[in-house]
Amino acid sequence: MNSTTTERVAWITGAAGGLGSALVSAFAAAGYRVAAAGHSTLPNVELESARVWPMRLDVTRADEVCRAVSQIEQRWGGIDVLVNNAGICADHLLAQMNDAEWDRVLAVNLKGPFLCCREVVPSMIQRRLGHILNVASDVARRGGRGRSNYAASKAGLIGLSLSLAQELGGFGICVNAVIPGFMSTPMTTGLDARRAREFQDASVLGAWVEPVRVARFMVDLAGHSHISGQVLQVDGRVSRWT
Ligand SMILES: NC(=O)c1ccc[n+]([C@@H]2O[C@H](COP(=O)([O-])OP(=O)(O)OC[C@H]3O[C@@H](n4cnc5c(N)ncnc54)[C@H](O)[C@@H]3O)[C@@H](O)[C@H]2O)c1
Repeated sequence: MNSTTTERVAWITGAAGGLGSALVSAFAAAGYRVAAAGHSTLPNVELESARVWPMRLDVTRADEVCRAVSQIEQRWGGIDVLVNNAGICADHLLAQMNDAEWDRVLAVNLKGPFLCCREVVPSMIQRRLGHILNVASDVARRGGRGRSNYAASKAGLIGLSLSLAQELGGFGICVNAVIPGFMSTPMTTGLDARRAREFQDASVLGAWVEPVRVARFMVDLAGHSHISGQVLQVDGRVSRWT
């Protein structure tokens, strides 16, 4: 069960979104069976096939997360790769940010991945395999005006990833955080042209990254069993060495 590449199972959250759809296609194209969890909308029904299983999931709901994992395990035997991709932003200067905006962003971007990880980890430990990929953001490192809730959630997600990598490495399970560069997705449609240009200039490659390229990178990463506890940037930004 799940021992060959073609039979591997990936569970992707936020699967109807810009990066999520690209992830579903990329994992399916690589031979994975994909549990594609959408929230308000289901992932593209055209994708429904023996290989892709669209499901509805609010990652902030522990009961729904628990049900989703047991359904996937019943249907396909186990989850090899969890991609915590669901994410939201609600930008405001801190003084104008209300409790709901703070709580919701932290709930989706940080508590959701915690719930999903907690639910898949026992069976990954039992099977001595697995890869967890958490979609973070460069805002975690640099912060951003009006982005305190988003930055805190993504910095927390990186901390969660590094801690979990240490807890699970001994069981052969890898945990990594991936930082995509600026992508044109529903999340970024409202962004003004000046900020969009700044993102483009921040990359030495001089361009935004396409979701499909981030998705293919994540598929490749999921296939490695000796890369764990890393924060990997797919954004063309030059890293500081020290
Ligand atoms: N777009 C960018 O430039 C960019 C850059 C860095 C990181 N990211 C991160 O990439 C990930 C994907 O973002 P995207 O750009 O595709 O945005 P998107 O808005 O297209 O997709 C996000 C998805 O998350 C889902 N979602 C929201 N609340 C949910 C919940 N409670 N439960 C389950 N799913 C929920 C939404 O329905 C949506 O489909 C996010 O984690 C985001 O923070 C995006």
